[in-house]
Amino acid sequence: MSEPVVIRLTVNGERREGRCEPRTLLADFLREDLGLTGTHVGCEHGICGACTIHVNGEAARSCIMLAVQADGAELQTIEGLAKDGVFHPLQQAFHENHGLQCGFCTPGMLMVALDFLRLNPSPSEAEIREAISAVLCRCTGYRDIVRSIQVASEAMRKSGVGTR
Ligand code: FES
Ligand code: FES
Repeated sequence: MSEPVVIRLTVNGERREGRCEPRTLLADFLREDLGLTGTHVGCEHGICGACTIHVNGEAARSCIMLAVQADGAELQTIEGLAKDGVFHPLQQAFHENHGLQCGFCTPGMLMVALDFLRLNPSPSEAEIREAISAVLCRCTGYRDIVRSIQVASEAMRKSGVGTR
């Protein structure tokens, strides 16, 4: 077994520190060492997108990154979306438009959608479908997820919340 290494990073605006083996995946570090279990792990090889978080402002799959690669980075996870107990417009839209279904893909779906809407605040339905093709949903389909993202994009444009 390798010697543990110390990882220091910022997660959802808070300075965090943990010790792990050099081979520890970032997804496992978040869940097991930092207790941030909102990030889900599905395929563990970069296909399903359930583990998507933001690393230095861009969507990234935390199951194909090592925790040591995130040393010094700024991360955002699903736990950082709501502010002061108020849902982010994306969370609110998923809640109101049945975008959640079983909820397994939802953290990855939201983090992918947020990254996408920051780059493209007024997307067409086709653009939304293409963007979320990076995340596999095992439930009944994508219709309500697409609708939720459409509603969220309108709310974000109007309020300015969540666009940065
Ligand atoms: S768990 Fe990371 S892409 Fe599937
Ligand atoms: S909501 Fe169930 S896997 Fe997507």
